[in-house]
Amino acid sequence: CKIRHYSFTVVLKNTTRLCATKPIVTVNGKFPGPTLYAREDDNVLVRVTNHVQYNVTIHWHGVRQFRTGWSDGPAYITQCPIQPGQNFLYNFTLTGQRGTLLWHAHISWLRSTMHGAIVILPKKSVPYPFPKPDKEKVIILGEWWKADTEAVVNQAMQTGLPPNISDAHTINGHAGPVPNCSSEGAYTLHVQNGRTYLLRVVNAAVNDELFFKIAGHNLTVVEVDAAYTKPFKTDTLFLGPGQTTTALLTADQGIGKYLIAISPFMDTIVAVDNLTGMGFLRYNHTLAFTPTTLTSIPPVNATAVTSVFSEALRSLNSKEYPANVPLTVDHSLFFTIGVGINPCATCFNGSRGVAAINNVSFVMPTTALLQAHYYSIKGVFTDDFPGQPLIPFNYTGTPPSNLQTMNGTRVYRLAYNSTVQLVIQGNSIIAPESHPTHLHGFNFFVIGRGVGNFDPNKDPLKFNLVDPVERNTISVPTAGWTAIRFRADNPGVWFFHCHLEVHTTWGLKMAFLVDNGKGPNESILPPPIDLPQC
Ligand code: C2O
Repeated sequence: CKIRHYSFTVVLKNTTRLCATKPIVTVNGKFPGPTLYAREDDNVLVRVTNHVQYNVTIHWHGVRQFRTGWSDGPAYITQCPIQPGQNFLYNFTLTGQRGTLLWHAHISWLRSTMHGAIVILPKKSVPYPFPKPDKEKVIILGEWWKADTEAVVNQAMQTGLPPNISDAHTINGHAGPVPNCSSEGAYTLHVQNGRTYLLRVVNAAVNDELFFKIAGHNLTVVEVDAAYTKPFKTDTLFLGPGQTTTALLTADQGIGKYLIAISPFMDTIVAVDNLTGMGFLRYNHTLAFTPTTLTSIPPVNATAVTSVFSEALRSLNSKEYPANVPLTVDHSLFFTIGVGINPCATCFNGSRGVAAINNVSFVMPTTALLQAHYYSIKGVFTDDFPGQPLIPFNYTGTPPSNLQTMNGTRVYRLAYNSTVQLVIQGNSIIAPESHPTHLHGFNFFVIGRGVGNFDPNKDPLKFNLVDPVERNTISVPTAGWTAIRFRADNPGVWFFHCHLEVHTTWGLKMAFLVDNGKGPNESILPPPIDLPQC
């Protein structure tokens, strides 16, 4: 395996979208940022140099960071931010991982403009477990605000109200076609008849789960979150922010121009963001005036489409790629997640949105948790995060129900190599909502999902322990639950949070602390010498 060197320079760049120009925080002046290419087992070194006035960090979303938690990136969880004028060398190995992932800033809302794809090819001489495509394409879905996103989040925090929704959805940075703004074209996927394409689709949006659809073409999903799946055919992909889906497309329509639509999913909430992002698939030799073949876009509340897609995903579970689902459980956890309100004297209407897990709304520390853990610095966190709700209630009943939240910087401690079953229950305090939840440091198996309150007597009987899909981010259905399992074989401190940035901001986050094991390879490596200080 190789060492891959990358240089990420964080700079402001004047960027024009929706007919207006504003400076945005970018990596190397690009939106979206550069794609990081590597092969399985490669060692990746990324020098991040900060030339903007904001503190920055970068997270390699889905990279397991085995024993290298220092390079994981969430600000104040595994590292202090890289301050203006400073730099830091992220150093990690892609042990046993191949597929599509993403990198993004992991501080405030900077990931709205600082993100890009990670493409991990299999080791040389190892083929894909599906027919070799003629070409590969990275497709990054994002959001664009006319306002500065740091101003959007500050305004939301000051008023205690939900932040303004974005003004457009983007495909590889294109917000177009923008009427009356001829300089901005739409993203176009150029194809040749008869060829197959591997589309590596990344949802890098800030606050939206998205549908992805191409008119007149089916897609065959072969991998999600850098884990191979049993191939399945669908006309619609569903991705929460932070998720990736790799799918084969056969260009078999001869000629023509076809709409690519990305549209948000939100099945209960009032502030509906229903802008559709548009691009085109275009056959070579198709005349410029060819009309576009349209597609029916799933409605914003197409819950059934999300269920069908989620339930169709299965691990490949072949001889080469077995699904090693933990069959016994050492820690059986139950987390209720959702949004509530807290009193707030300085807020516009006396209260503010707050989000919590088991009624604990996470407060960011000012020293990174991993440093506090490694150097045994007292007073930064407590390890009493509740593994069960403190006050059980009817989680999916009529809101409001159990509004009480408490603040805390609490972690849940896991013994090295212990097995964890976590049932994540969406609650309906205020209103139920779908939550794409992400675990750092691990892949997990999604062994079950359902609507309503989880039934500990009946639901486990239906768990799939044979070929459940393996992922790093999972959408917990609206007023429903998802059950996952993983093995805590990665020592360190690992963030767990809703990947809708607004919910993370409001406190829907916590961390797992995995103790070192006893063997020589069972402890976290020492911190890099250039680790930023707070
Ligand atoms: Cu992609 Cu903690 O995030």
